Amino acid sequence: MEDARDKKELNQILKDTLKNNQDHYKKGELANYIPALTKVDPKAVGISMVDTKGKFYATGEYKKRFTIQSVSKPLTLMLAIMDNGIDSVFDKVGVEPTGDPFNSIIKLTGFAKPYNPMINAGAIAVTSMIKGNDKEDKFSRIIGFFRKLAKNDGLELNQEVYFSEKETGDRNRSLAYYMRDQEIITGNIEEIVDLYFKQCSIEVNCTDIANMAAVLANQGVDPVTKERIIPRKIARIVRTLMTTCGMYDKSGNFAIEVGLAAKSGVGGGIMAEVPERFGIGVYGPALDDKGNSIVGMKVLKELSQKLNLSIF
Ligand code: DON
Repeated sequence: MEDARDKKELNQILKDTLKNNQDHYKKGELANYIPALTKVDPKAVGISMVDTKGKFYATGEYKKRFTIQSVSKPLTLMLAIMDNGIDSVFDKVGVEPTGDPFNSIIKLTGFAKPYNPMINAGAIAVTSMIKGNDKEDKFSRIIGFFRKLAKNDGLELNQEVYFSEKETGDRNRSLAYYMRDQEIITGNIEEIVDLYFKQCSIEVNCTDIANMAAVLANQGVDPVTKERIIPRKIARIVRTLMTTCGMYDKSGNFAIEVGLAAKSGVGGGIMAEVPERFGIGVYGPALDDKGNSIVGMKVLKELSQKLNLSIF
């Protein structure tokens, strides 16, 4: 379908969609529980789209960099599964939605393992499974994997956000210590949460996350280089978890309104994939009460309607 639609027309659709939705930022808040994340312009919005033939469409502040935050969770999950196998990972982390906020501790106390890898508890457990000789090696494997998916060797850590997370991340530390007590994770907790904070503080832009999503949309194969980066089965599992849990306790509503596998982050990014068609990256740092970009969700809803993107 996209082949028939010329580039100019699709770029115009993106432009109009951004314009129609950019004012929704007024209803949101910046992620003030990580102080460094409040030093951004709440009005900034951008969209990048890459199709599975490698064609690129974009508008607004799509080059503006922001920290990846929880958009990193499905990516690290794929690496952890490739490192350890499907069964080992899901022996420790569940695959069910929680209906609770992303940083909730409530269900950890009544259930032997974190409900899913998209919430903080599950993501920290996943990060603890990344293989490497030492903490530096583990981080360099994570960032190396993100660079490959984004086709951008320039991805780097945002030191200020990383230190800000480290300073204020006691909820995440609590989740991790509790999980070690429950024998879900093993090892040095300070090192594990540090690796998780670093993974969340990697800077990307809309195009980086659109490129990452395009690999998922293309079932694990890079649409441009044709290299298989992720086994098809692992890509399918992770796309499924993004669909059921990627927008936390808004995932059901998002499935109805947008109908795509997606993952949000409190840096303001949302990565979404349209099977066999598109990778999409949207940015808007003002968040709703669930921690999802308000403008990002509105933009995806309108694009889904205009381009008939819902998988349902
Ligand atoms: O651990 C945290 O709270 C953040 N580094 C990531 C949370 C996040 O992005 C939630 N997503 N919308």
